Amino acid sequence: MGKGSGYGKVILFGEHFVVHGIPGIVSAIDSSTDAIVTKAVKGQNVKDERKTAKGYSEEKRLQQIESIERMLKAMDLDPRLPFDIWIGGTLPGFSGLGASAASSVAIARAISEELGLNLSNEKINSVAYEGEKAYAGNPSGIDNTAATYGGVMWFKKNPAGGQDLVERIKLKKPVEIVIGSTGKVANTKAMVEGVAERKKASPAKYNPLFKQAESLAVAGHKALEAGDLKKVGDLMNENHRILQEIGVSSKELDLLVDIARKQSAFGAKLTGGGGGGCMVALTPGKDLQGKVVSAFKGAGYEYIATKIGVVTY
Ligand code: PMV
Repeated sequence: MGKGSGYGKVILFGEHFVVHGIPGIVSAIDSSTDAIVTKAVKGQNVKDERKTAKGYSEEKRLQQIESIERMLKAMDLDPRLPFDIWIGGTLPGFSGLGASAASSVAIARAISEELGLNLSNEKINSVAYEGEKAYAGNPSGIDNTAATYGGVMWFKKNPAGGQDLVERIKLKKPVEIVIGSTGKVANTKAMVEGVAERKKASPAKYNPLFKQAESLAVAGHKALEAGDLKKVGDLMNENHRILQEIGVSSKELDLLVDIARKQSAFGAKLTGGGGGGCMVALTPGKDLQGKVVSAFKGAGYEYIATKIGVVTY
């Protein structure tokens, strides 16, 4: 029996833009997906016991099968190698929190342990990136990097396919956030493809937005390291606006963002692929975090109250 885990994440700056080589900022959260893998006689039997948004497992089932095959290939193994795979853990299967990447990292680690492969974190990360392709089509790699290493990171994809730029960001101290879930399952692959198509069709509109996304990430990096959380919040609000402009927000995401801002969250934006899924509000201090939690509860939405900057290796 082999065991493994991978962390969930929130993207603070740059989702979607990061797929196209613009830098992004991600923080792991202290919820993980866990996997247990045991060699079997026949078939790949997946028992998925994660708490999920309604319809999440059904929507992702085929992608999950493809993902496991891709990962086995990336480990130079037979893609049909029979295994019993259990998936669970504290990270809910809500779209936008990197649940697919967390499960890929967890499964890759569990297979490595079960077969005694002793794979390094670097190898686990690259195997999980292969697995992510089944869910995201052309992923940036930001999710599997956060799921593998934890912490807060500056991430810039190398569009030529070489080494990505990954740097740790040190926060002065962990900061409270509230993640709000629309309860809607989103298809990351379709969202990523949609942005790429619209960008190609309307470069005059999209190119300046991509430039703005880059400036926001650079300014966000500085503000995070300086502990200027008001500034971080303002920049997150700006980031939400350009995500709306590239067509990845939704009515429910905008509503949750509004609710959080009305409670004086420092900033709020959708996080991850959008089109449903989750948003994140920056709520330094227990009191502010509690106010946003109560407002989400009152409006009937599920939430996770946690911190950025806690999981570091
Ligand atoms: O929705 P999630 O948790 O799969 O996050 C997707 C993040 C994107 O930037 C939209 C895609 C990517 O690969 O970076």
